[in-house]
Amino acid sequence: MDSWAGGRSYESYVGRWSRLVAREFLAWLDRPADAGWLDVGCGTGALTEMVLARCAPSEVVGVDPSPSFVEYAAACVADPRASFQVGTAQALPVDDAAFDVVVSGLVLNFVPDRSAALREMRRAARPGGTVAAYVWDYPDEMQLMTHFWDTAAGLAPAAAALHEGARFPFCRPEALHALFTDAGLENVEAQPVVVPTVFGDFDDYWVPFLSGTGPAPAYAMSLGDGDRAHLREALRARLPTEDDGSIHLTARAWALSGTAA
Ligand SMILES: C[S@@+](CC[C@H](N)C(=O)[O-])C[C@H]1O[C@@H](n2cnc3c(N)ncnc32)[C@H](O)[C@@H]1O
Repeated sequence: MDSWAGGRSYESYVGRWSRLVAREFLAWLDRPADAGWLDVGCGTGALTEMVLARCAPSEVVGVDPSPSFVEYAAACVADPRASFQVGTAQALPVDDAAFDVVVSGLVLNFVPDRSAALREMRRAARPGGTVAAYVWDYPDEMQLMTHFWDTAAGLAPAAAALHEGARFPFCRPEALHALFTDAGLENVEAQPVVVPTVFGDFDDYWVPFLSGTGPAPAYAMSLGDGDRAHLREALRARLPTEDDGSIHLTARAWALSGTAA
């Protein structure tokens, strides 16, 4: 079970990067104004906020199973068009065909039954509406996490089983395309979204792992002080560091969209 709680911690670990992906994703999706949007697995509201800022929606409903994330999003997103509810992707607490656009950012890999989630997303979309999602390319190009897990597994082989690249092999365009078409979605398209993840110094990279929010931070905090210090120093030695101390990595997400029949 992955650990998702603590809005501020999430923001420093992934939220700051997920906002960059959300912006590119919405530009690619290019949906018209005045649409009703559903954000599945809204977390702290990164994608919801970007929809509000960029897509002129009539409403955005965010759903997430983490009560603390829902509370954080509701407190931070002060827009009358936005509302948030606790619920899961496999059993969305919304009516059939209630939304023009149903989206989900960086969530599908954490959902136990992804096929059920896609069917639910299709159910929530009106006929002709859009269902779209993106996930990190964990197997190949989510460098900040790959460095973490490769280093952790080098120090403690048991960590290899927790490596998100190994846990989420389906986060590739072919498997994601099949997931969408198997759910009955039509006109399915895939698009890579690459964003820079630049850290001012090593602490800017490392400290978010001490929050415990998300799989890699949860692993870091499961270690004793000595093992965590070994991991920290091995990462410090491994990461490509510029003369000014900054660390320039990139992250790729795969975005998919389809049309509800
Ligand atoms: C990496 S965060 C992404 C949050 C947000 N969408 C973003 O882009 O920043 C993953 C989110 O998936 C949510 N989640 C985990 N299992 C879920 C499920 N079964 N249904 C819906 N959301 C789920 C977590 O609570 C967490 O908010």
